[in-house]
Amino acid sequence: MMDYSRDDKLYKEDLKKKIIRLKAKRNAVIIVHNYQRDEIQEIADYSGDSLGLARAAVNTKAEIIVFCGVHFMAESASILNPEKIVLLPVKEAGCPLADMITVAKLRAKKEEFPEAAVVCYVNSSAGVKAESDIACTSSNAIEVVRSIKEKRIIFVPDKNLGRYVQSHVPEKEIILWEGYCPTHLRLTEEDAVKARRNFPGAEFIAHPECRPEVLKLADHICSTKGMFDYAKAADTKEFIIGTESGILYNLRKKNPGKKFHTPTTHLLCANMKLTTLGWVAYSLENLVHKVKVADCVKEKARSTLERMLDITGKTTTKHPL
Ligand code: 13P
Repeated sequence: MMDYSRDDKLYKEDLKKKIIRLKAKRNAVIIVHNYQRDEIQEIADYSGDSLGLARAAVNTKAEIIVFCGVHFMAESASILNPEKIVLLPVKEAGCPLADMITVAKLRAKKEEFPEAAVVCYVNSSAGVKAESDIACTSSNAIEVVRSIKEKRIIFVPDKNLGRYVQSHVPEKEIILWEGYCPTHLRLTEEDAVKARRNFPGAEFIAHPECRPEVLKLADHICSTKGMFDYAKAADTKEFIIGTESGILYNLRKKNPGKKFHTPTTHLLCANMKLTTLGWVAYSLENLVHKVKVADCVKEKARSTLERMLDITGKTTTKHPL
């Protein structure tokens, strides 16, 4: 039995070996979001943004999916793979943005606007997905909204992403929800101005969950996977990254000749950081915590996600990064 309270380098290497052994024994795959800790990125079979991870979950042949991210992501993997076991190593890893909407409140909004279609950001519960017409992620939200025939759209729960989409799709009338990501909200206009001043040669790339005044200062706005693509393709050698700082590890690793800065040291999502090597090993060893989706919402939530994947494609590459 390992002592899971240790945190030294040798211990981490031992844990990695143990995880690799358990993964083979269990026929499991480890799917990791770009915001996870550095050492979790290192054990990933697939890492990427929400869309890439949903696709990876659809395409895997493994029997068990260990989802290193937050609850709604693992829940989506389970909805798309009802025959597989999906494990969330730390069951408390939630998403405050997803918690800013309830099924009852969404139903009330739908009654207010009965002619509107409902687009839900994947950062939402299975219940909310079941009440929506189609899902979207930050990388396909514009495409998804454009694909809808209704003029009026209730967009939940992220108001910043919704506002960003509205600016690209003026022909639609988007009804925003009062939700936001507390981590991205911590990045202020002042931080962005200061970072631009400190790194005058750098391009500023921001996630669409940021405040509108921050997005106005950005050279490029995209999902976390979009940040990898942009940084790789750009001639620029220096970037300010306006999103959760866990992404910096792989951005630096994949682009050794380039520099990446965080505009503030506050861009940390505590929920994303809950997953440690110890918890992944424990999860694989004890097959915990199994993500279960209530039967009454499973099918409807699945068609909401499938509709998104039908529009934006289901396939993924082995390492979406
Ligand atoms: P991405 O889909 O861009 O990775 O964003 C996920 C997320 O939850 C941002 O807070």
